[in-house]
Amino acid sequence: MSKLTICDHPLIQHKLTYIRDKNTNTKDFRELVDEVATMMAYEITRDLPLETIPVETPVTTAQGKVISGRMLGLVPILRAGLGMVDGMLQLIPGAKVGHIGLFRDPETLKPVEYYVNLPSDSAERLLIVVDPMLATGGSANAAIETLKKRGCLNLKLMCLIASPEGVKAVQDAHPDVDIYIASLDECLNDHGYIVPGLGDAGDRMYGTK
Ligand code: PRP
Ligand code: URA
Repeated sequence: MSKLTICDHPLIQHKLTYIRDKNTNTKDFRELVDEVATMMAYEITRDLPLETIPVETPVTTAQGKVISGRMLGLVPILRAGLGMVDGMLQLIPGAKVGHIGLFRDPETLKPVEYYVNLPSDSAERLLIVVDPMLATGGSANAAIETLKKRGCLNLKLMCLIASPEGVKAVQDAHPDVDIYIASLDECLNDHGYIVPGLGDAGDRMYGTK
C-alpha cells in the first residue's frame, strides 16, 4: 500500500479554503493554487536523499549536504495540472517538465488521452505527477500507466483535493506511488465531482464556462 500524506500546514489549509470559495475570481484562484503548489513541493521533496560534500567557508573547510540521487521531473495532467507547475518550479527550478493531456468524458467519467510529451530522460528521473483534483482516480491512474509504459517507475502523485474513492483507486492500481494531498474530502457526487471540493478545477483556473 502506498503512503498517503496530507499536507496540513496551516498556510496550505488557509489558502485552500479561499481556493474552494466559489466567490474567488480566476486571477486569485490561479495565484492561490500557485502558492499552495510551492508549499506542497516543499513537503513532497522532504525525503530527497542528501550526500555530504566538502565546502570552503570563509573560515574553514566544512562538510555540507547537497541533494543527491535522481533528478526530478514534473508531469502535470492538462489542463488543470499546469497551474501547479510554476509554483513547484520556484523550489525545484532544475526539474524538467513533461505533459500528459487527458480529459474526463462527462458521460462515462473515463479519461481520454490526447497528448503526451515527456523529457527524453524521464525514466531516470523521480517524476511527480501533478493535478489539482483526484476524483474517481481515472485520470491519475491513466497518467501513471502512460508513464510506466515508457519505463518511468519512480513516481509520486501530488493533488490539492482528493476523494476517498480516488485515493483507493490509485492505491489499489499503483501501490508503489506515494500520494500527497492538501485535503481528503468527503465523497464524490453523482456527476463524479468531489464534495465539497472546489468545482471544476480547469474551468476555475482558466475562466472557461
Ligand atoms: C479534471 C482534473 C483531473 C480529473 C479528475 O480534469 O483536473 O484531471 O478531472 O477526475 P478523475 O479523478 O475522475 O479522473 P478534466 O477532465 O476536467 O480536464 P481539464 O483539466 O482539461 O478541465
Ligand atoms: N474534476 C474537477 O475539476 N473537479 C472535480 O470535483 C472532479 C473532477
